[in-house]
Amino acid sequence: MWGTATAPFQVEEKGERKTDWDSFIDRKKIVSPDEQGPNYWTPGNAEKDFSDLRNLGINAQRLGFEWGRIEPEPGKISQEALRRYRGMIDFLKERDIAPMVTLNHFVLPEWVARQGGWENKSIREAFRHYAEVIAGNFPDIPYWITINEPNVLAAAGWAGGSWPPEKKGTKGLLTVLHSVSPNMIAAHELAGNELTKQSGSGKVGIANAISWYKPENTMSPLDRIPGAVADALFNYKFLKGTIENSDFAGINFYSGYWLKFRPEFNGKMQKEFPMANDELPFGKVVRHNDEVLNDVGWPVVPGFFLEALQYVHSKFKGKPVIITENGIADREDKLRSFYILTHLIAMHEAMRSGVDVRGYFHWSAVDNLEWAEGFGPRFGLIARDPKTGERAIRQSAKLYGEIAKSNEIDVNKLEEYLTPEQKILTKKFLKSLERSV
Ligand code: BGC
Repeated sequence: MWGTATAPFQVEEKGERKTDWDSFIDRKKIVSPDEQGPNYWTPGNAEKDFSDLRNLGINAQRLGFEWGRIEPEPGKISQEALRRYRGMIDFLKERDIAPMVTLNHFVLPEWVARQGGWENKSIREAFRHYAEVIAGNFPDIPYWITINEPNVLAAAGWAGGSWPPEKKGTKGLLTVLHSVSPNMIAAHELAGNELTKQSGSGKVGIANAISWYKPENTMSPLDRIPGAVADALFNYKFLKGTIENSDFAGINFYSGYWLKFRPEFNGKMQKEFPMANDELPFGKVVRHNDEVLNDVGWPVVPGFFLEALQYVHSKFKGKPVIITENGIADREDKLRSFYILTHLIAMHEAMRSGVDVRGYFHWSAVDNLEWAEGFGPRFGLIARDPKTGERAIRQSAKLYGEIAKSNEIDVNKLEEYLTPEQKILTKKFLKSLERSV
């Protein structure tokens, strides 16, 4: 399965939606709040992208349903919203594109947020009921994601404080441990049961983000500490709580960091993604001079992806894995082909070593709203200018399409997409894999 991924809030215009993020944007809490996304709520726009991606070779699409649009008031279900989503799903199915549907991607209905959102136990039943409505209306979805990246939301909403509900620091972290994460984990299970009960053959998973932490000095037991703490809090806690109650492990992977020990505990995270933060509990990120960085400063290290996949396999043996997101912020498309090629080589190597990967979804189909960062970071295979609406298929989308169509990675054939320097780095990476066999 070769797909691309989107999330409803990041690609849809407002319409009748009522969510916590709409209020957040109304309060001008994001960069350039007036810019326009790809407007997938208007029939024709999502469809145009889906057909172009199909023509390139893609055979699956991850998209989401917006809870605050489907249930704008408690118990009041919008038939119009269900019809629009049905239109998208039918469009995909008619073209043999397998749909994967996310029920919740960071955003909550305004009324759920007012009741305390993920902090209030009542969200478990509210989410179960929403899942029941969706499963009843969409019994034909082959792949479900209940919640997207509970760990990233917890970090950005309760530790970094840069997303709703804007809680911060050690107190926020304690709220995560005490109420947010148990509610998310329970909501996943309840929704998953509903989806399984009603939609029969549909497979249910959750998309967990993995940030890979590597000791700067692999021989130093002290340098292992910050990575172990961050891994336990950010990766493992949510993986352990959710994967056992899933048909597959959905993994979102972007990047990782080399870490060095620092004696103090820094519970005050400054930025939205802990992985984009140079300060971690008991540790500090070490920057390397020769690092390849994406537009938002995340290192491009395909070996981290390989290690992260092997880690999931070693902890949760027997669970099939689907890469539910993997991608790069790269406005000029200078690195994306290199990123895709090397990360797919890493994924292939992981499969050779026994990891049961069933599918890969590239983030993202199209340039979209990168949350609090607005439309600045561009992750799309399809480029879209938020000011002019101008749209173009990036060169890297063609490379991805070639891989998807042929279901193989022919490095020699795909070399034409790389710069001379990237060819050397790719060869070096391939060599390092030979050595590790
Ligand atoms: C999220 C996406 C986001 C992407 C790039 C993931 O954490 O699921 O919504 O756009 O990363 O930052």
